[in-house]
Amino acid sequence: MKLQNANSNEEMGRLAADIFTDAIRAKPDIVLGLATGSTPLTLYGELIRRYGEGIADFSEVKTVNLDEYVGLAGSHNQSYRYFMDENLFNYINIDMGDTFLPDGLAEDLKAECERYNEVIDSLGGVDLQLLGIGLNGHLGFNEPSDAFSSRTQVVELTESTINANSRFFSNPSDVPRLAITMGIQDIMQAKKIILVASAGKKDIVGKAMNGEITPQVPASILQKHPDVTIILSEE
Ligand code: F6R
Repeated sequence: MKLQNANSNEEMGRLAADIFTDAIRAKPDIVLGLATGSTPLTLYGELIRRYGEGIADFSEVKTVNLDEYVGLAGSHNQSYRYFMDENLFNYINIDMGDTFLPDGLAEDLKAECERYNEVIDSLGGVDLQLLGIGLNGHLGFNEPSDAFSSRTQVVELTESTINANSRFFSNPSDVPRLAITMGIQDIMQAKKIILVASAGKKDIVGKAMNGEITPQVPASILQKHPDVTIILSEE
């Protein structure tokens, strides 16, 4: 694993954007795996800026997001579809039909997980995967557990994640208890992985990079991936 230090969240976003824009230039129809949350915001802002300056072209890019809350429509302002539209997709020249997220309103959640796996497979897998990391070491919504997950699945969110994410909801009891997430195997199959983390995640990033590889710290599995870059902001 490579570690890059950034002095600020803005610098973290620029360093990540350098990797993303280079990768898109090298493969215009690249498949990007994307994440939501606070940490990728400076990266997304930088990608929008670079698109505006003609440095980045998303016309052939495809995206698959890591996760979505169960029970929220894409139009709900806390859904991850809404987040992606508002923080990236609406401001770049991507074809919305090439942006994929699990459907949090699917009636049959198991069938939805299978559909999502088929989407990932039909795209040929992820070329460049963006990750954040939870305070408990989660990747996507793959929470600490007794075994590393394989493919897209429905998960129960832990209290730690519900508390962390309640900052975005007007009422903490509104945070969904279930989510659909790509599995650890899906993440590990990405050709290249970029993990962004702010200073508050330093301890868990240390455990993930240097600690025991255990499903109790899902991000520790990244030690087995051949091409991971962690960009850690000091802010
Ligand atoms: C969301 C996701 C999560 C977040 C993590 C960190 O799509 O994949 O694993 O990356 O919860 O969230 P922030 O960046 O808000 O601290």
